[in-house]
Amino acid sequence: MTRRTFVRHATYLTALASRSASAAPALNPNLLAKFVDPLPIPEVAKPTGMRAAPSHPSTKLPYYRVPMRQIECKLHRDLPAARLWCYGSSSPGPTFETRAGQPLLIEWPNELPGKHFLPIDHTLHGAETDTPEVRGIVHVHGAKAPPESDGYPEDWYVPGKSRTYFYPNAQEAAALWYHDHAMGINRLNIYAGMFGLFLIRDDFEDALNLPKGAFEVPLVIYDRLLKQDGQLDYPVSGDPARPWVPEVFGDVMVANGKAFPFLNVEPRKYRFRVLNASNGRFLHLALSNEQKFHQIGTDQGLLPAPVLLERSLLAPGERADWIVDFTGRAGEQIVLNNDSFQVMQFRVGQTKSPDTSLLPATLRPVPKIPESAAVKTRPLALIEQMTMKGESMSMLLNNTPWHMPVTENPVLDSVEIWSFINTTDDSHPIHLHLVRFQILDRRRFEPFFYQNTGEVRYTGPVTPPAPEEAGWKDTVRADPRMVTRIIVRFEGYLGRYVWHCHVLEHEDNEMMRPYEVIAAAIR
Ligand code: C2O
Ligand code: CU
Repeated sequence: MTRRTFVRHATYLTALASRSASAAPALNPNLLAKFVDPLPIPEVAKPTGMRAAPSHPSTKLPYYRVPMRQIECKLHRDLPAARLWCYGSSSPGPTFETRAGQPLLIEWPNELPGKHFLPIDHTLHGAETDTPEVRGIVHVHGAKAPPESDGYPEDWYVPGKSRTYFYPNAQEAAALWYHDHAMGINRLNIYAGMFGLFLIRDDFEDALNLPKGAFEVPLVIYDRLLKQDGQLDYPVSGDPARPWVPEVFGDVMVANGKAFPFLNVEPRKYRFRVLNASNGRFLHLALSNEQKFHQIGTDQGLLPAPVLLERSLLAPGERADWIVDFTGRAGEQIVLNNDSFQVMQFRVGQTKSPDTSLLPATLRPVPKIPESAAVKTRPLALIEQMTMKGESMSMLLNNTPWHMPVTENPVLDSVEIWSFINTTDDSHPIHLHLVRFQILDRRRFEPFFYQNTGEVRYTGPVTPPAPEEAGWKDTVRADPRMVTRIIVRFEGYLGRYVWHCHVLEHEDNEMMRPYEVIAAAIR
């Protein structure tokens, strides 16, 4: 057993111990009937009117109002309703259907109750005992938004307060998502249900004639631990003063708010907008009949061409745009599996409405940013700090905790290479706010040599990104013992943003750093 497996094992046992000590016993998901709930489709958010744009009061923009709320909702037919926190009245919250070039305003009132229902760790930065328990702040993941509307983690506000954010939508068609980002409790708020989809469409995408309407289906997938009374269970460390755990892996797979749902489909092409909204689980999705499918898009929009896949790997925060063709499968029941877990079932019916949609051979060009365009390369180490007992204490970016001064300060419109030197045994999905980027490559290196000398000694070949990653990204897997390089143009706005690991337990425990887009020095 390596130290790491031992630590994981120990954490797991502790989690089990503290789970059984909680009010209701843990639920055994094998006892839940599979595929009895229809897959819910979140409603589409509707603007409630028009309001003046922040900088041009004469311009009126669509205005939405979506409160943060506590709801009761059944995660499965045979379970009592669970307490959830969400946006609007469901989790996932309403889907925003927006168009590139059409700015909009969203007011996000905090209407949550005064007490949290998941275990806050007051030793984490930003969640000290003198900060309010219940705090929220919304970030639209993947949005090119001005800093004051980006949901900076320290800009949280308490129940009774509200903020109106401005989203310019000056970017290409993509499946973005919105979620909570409150400092130190982000993992709990998202686990409680605070997320939803934010789709941007544009004329280019429309012209491709991809499956749409009833044949374009959002799939927000995540794992949870549940108790027998249907409530969410969030594991704790066993140390009441420091309940934080380094990772959460649930055994109940949830899609669009239901455990193990089913979807009736026609024997024809479908487009699925897939999001991994798990706190820490990487998804390896495949169809039970071993049918292949095409991935046509990634985090920030369409790929240059469809990629045929048997299995789709999605880290927390990543999105995939799929075309699945059920033609010729009438009468079949196909399960979407995640490794050995079942996620949901597709029931292919007999009748088929005319399918005039296309799977084009080429999609959208993704012009490569040449490495020579980069004015700077930043080596950024990912480090895990252990206690003497080998328990995970925290993980750090660049060996620098959150509260230290900004160290990453790219110049507006400049291109940089960020090189993530992952010395840990975990894969960390790294997300940068504001920007989209391209993956250059990954390469194995010697972590111990690096830790002792600060020098990168490569031990493997340069590996280009997988074809399904070779588009515009906003989240990238920094795999263990690998150097992962991305190339980024810092376009959009001057100001303060963040970059972080999207394993939410890591993010809440120091694996997040501010960065600042600065103006070029005046010569
Ligand atoms: Cu998906 Cu900083 O977030
Ligand atoms: Cu991480």
